[in-house]
Amino acid sequence: MKLQGKVIVVTGAASGIGRAMVKRFAADGATVIAADVDAERLAPVAAETGAEPVVCDVSDRASVEALLNRPRVDVLCNNAGILDALTPLADVSDELWRRVMSINVDGPFYATRAVLPMMIAQGGGVILNTCSAAALSGGRAGAAYTAAKHALLGVTRSVAWYYADQNIRCNAIAPGAISTKMHTREAPHEGGMAKYAPYFATVPPHGKASAVADVAAFLISDDASYVNGEILSVDGGWNAF
Ligand SMILES: NC(=O)c1ccc[n+]([C@@H]2O[C@H](COP(=O)([O-])OP(=O)(O)OC[C@H]3O[C@@H](n4cnc5c(N)ncnc54)[C@H](O)[C@@H]3O)[C@@H](O)[C@H]2O)c1
Repeated sequence: MKLQGKVIVVTGAASGIGRAMVKRFAADGATVIAADVDAERLAPVAAETGAEPVVCDVSDRASVEALLNRPRVDVLCNNAGILDALTPLADVSDELWRRVMSINVDGPFYATRAVLPMMIAQGGGVILNTCSAAALSGGRAGAAYTAAKHALLGVTRSVAWYYADQNIRCNAIAPGAISTKMHTREAPHEGGMAKYAPYFATVPPHGKASAVADVAAFLISDDASYVNGEILSVDGGWNAF
């Protein structure tokens, strides 16, 4: 019960990696606040785990601030995110760029800004950002998603550096190809997929969301007390290629 007594907020909690995090953290004894924009899919996750469900759109500042307006948060997991259909930059519309940036970057920014004063006042805390293999190279997704995850890695390192002396740790995980609904929510861009397809053979067998949650549980626990500003790949070796 390594997370006993910890109050943990997880965004994107209704599906995939976020759902697996909620299950794992609750099993480890944490009090979990499960936040997602999809109320319908969030309800069963809460019922199954005992987590508190909060409907929240991370791209909306007021919604994020309402989520985090609570007496204590020990751990914030900025996990909600969307893919960009593998769209190459020349074909990225303003709308797609804004949508990906607003959920994948603005969301973690709003949440982290809201939670930092609370963590400072309470004497410390932990922030974990779900980046991606696309935070480390250019050929894992489209332009908007790649830029967003690189930005989130920058946020991770900046927060880690600036707030280490306040007993706040901020790390990132970089999942590879994980079996979740993310890949099937939208049809991929034809040209983007054509570029990507020859490299399918380099992708290791898809991982389980629970395997990512296991690593997240380690990084937010006291076992990782001196890990700060790190990005940890959970990709079956994809990044080694
Ligand atoms: N699945 C993968 O292969 C993979 C690889 C690398 C990184 N990731 C990252 O992992 C994270 C989780 O993705 P997943 O694979 O579990 O996908 P998923 O689509 O299964 O789950 C994402 C969840 O985020 C929620 N969400 C979307 N927009 C939201 C918003 N505006 N506010 C609040 N919640 C919102 C969705 O409702 C959904 O429940 C994302 O940040 C994604 O970029 C996934």
